[in-house]
This record gives sequence, structure tokens and C-alpha cells, in this order.
Amino acid sequence: MKTTDKAIDQIIDKNIVLRTENMTMQFGGVVAVDNLHLTIREHQIVALIGPNGAGKTTAFNMITGVYTPSSGKIFLQGEDITGMKPDKITRMGVARTFQNIRLFKDLTVFENIIIAKHFSMKSNVLSATLRLPGAVREEKRMREESEALLERMGLADVRNDIANSLPYGQQRHLEIARALATSPNLLLLDEPAAGMNPQETEDLTASIKQIQQDFNLTVFLIEHHMDLVMEISDRIYVLDFGQTIGKGTPGEIQNNQRVVEAYLGVDDDAEN
Ligand SMILES: Nc1ncnc2c1ncn2[C@@H]1O[C@H](COP(=O)(O)OP(=O)(O)O)[C@@H](O)[C@H]1O
Ligand SMILES: [Mg+2]
Repeated sequence: MKTTDKAIDQIIDKNIVLRTENMTMQFGGVVAVDNLHLTIREHQIVALIGPNGAGKTTAFNMITGVYTPSSGKIFLQGEDITGMKPDKITRMGVARTFQNIRLFKDLTVFENIIIAKHFSMKSNVLSATLRLPGAVREEKRMREESEALLERMGLADVRNDIANSLPYGQQRHLEIARALATSPNLLLLDEPAAGMNPQETEDLTASIKQIQQDFNLTVFLIEHHMDLVMEISDRIYVLDFGQTIGKGTPGEIQNNQRVVEAYLGVDDDAEN
């Protein structure tokens, strides 16, 4: 992006955190995401919904640098991040959780957090190995922040438990805690309530709202639990076979005939 374009963009709207322009991903003959335009503003909670195979996770994978879009652009805080590597995008303030839990299963809860912290730390491995003063201070700060995060996420009591031994709901919370450990501005959650019962889903909904406020976050989430989506979203995008078939407020989406026919009308309990 040219400097002038960037400046103009900032004048038009300073508070856009994420913007995609014609973001497209093609796998062979399949257009998994077709010309997706997203605009996500600071402190919003935005949902991406649609049937299985609609292209939701693929959209996340492009935003986080796992895939480079076949065409189109992605801007983070006005900066073009299209094709950047995932670790760089993480350091720019984007964190995510995965549709299938991806914890370090055999490590403790605390170790899962501290590893994520290390991933986002400034000192390099060499200065840490040499125990240079800056690295020692940073290590201490990271440990304290990790303890605080576990406390905040209700995981302090299980800090020494092996991740795999936690009940499913707590593993999902640990995944979110681990994402928060990299101090993101933008948090992407891929089906955080997958496999949860109604009570757990309700607790998670409250938890996401609270985290969003406490950590001053912008949240972009994929979810099939419509109660959760309709309750917490400021805006919703609906994908179907890669196409954007609806966007708007929860009220607008619930009254969007095309969305109701393609997705909301069907019983999605069978999906996962
Ligand atoms: N790495 C890949 N290679 C080939 N096809 C893929 C790949 N990832 C996803 N797809 C295809 O892209 C489409 C969208 O998948 P996905 O983004 O996982 O959907 P959703 O998350 O909405 O369920 C599907 O047809 C899927 O099979
Ligand atoms: Mg998916």
C-alpha cells in the first residue's frame, strides 16, 4: 500500500482494525472464499457464520497468514499484511484459537501459557540463554503476567494439571487464555463453543464479553451456536459456499431471507 493511500485510509476511518478487500482462496477447482470484504472496527465483536464447508476457517487461515490468498488484500490497522508469515502477524497483535483444540496436551496449564508468552517476547533465545539482565526481567514479568491470566480465566487452581486431563470446557478456556498470552488486539475464535452444552455455551458467552472488555479487544468469531452469536455480535457476516450471502446486525441477519433459507432455517445441531 502506498503511503498516500494509507494516510487517506486513516483519515477516512482510524478505528478499522481489520479490512479485507476481495479476499479469495481457491483450492484447485474449489473457490473456498470468494471475494470476501470484511470491515472490523475497534472493540467490536463480529461473527462469521454459515454451513460447514462455507469457507469460514479458510478466511481465518488467510487472515492469520496460514494461507496466502489467491487474490485480494488484507489490511491490519491500515497495514497490508497479505502473505505475511503467521509469527509476524501474531507479533502484530493477532491471536487465534482453533476449531479442534490444539494445546500442548502433555504439558501443564501454566506451561501452555508461558510458551505462548515466549512466542511473543522481544528478547531472543540467545540473550535468554545467557541470562542477560533484560531477559531475566522479561522472564519474571512473563511469569507474573501468566499467573494473572490464569487467575483471570479461572484456571489458577489447575495451573499444574496436565492440559489433556482437564475437562473439555476448561481446555477450551485454556485455549483462549493461551491466545491472550500473546497480548493481542484482535482475537479470532474458531468455534469456541463447539461441543459445549447450553450451560457451558452460556458461560462462555459471558466470558467472551468480559474478556473483550477487560483486555480491550476486538473479537472475530466463527460459531454455530446461534444464541451465542445473536447475543454478543455487533455485526455478522454469513458465508455459503464461499459467497457472502449476508452481512449486518443480528436483527438484520435474522430477517435476511437468503440467510434464513441457506443456514438459519436448518437445524444445525447435527453440525460440528
Ligand atoms: N487445505 C485445503 N486444501 C483443499 N481444500 C480445502 C483446504 N482447506 C479447506 N478446503 C476446502 O475449502 C472449503 C471451505 O472449508 P472450510 O474453510 O474449512 O469451511 P468451514 O470452516 O466454513 O466449515 C471446503 O470445501 C474445504 O474442503
Ligand atoms: Mg471451520
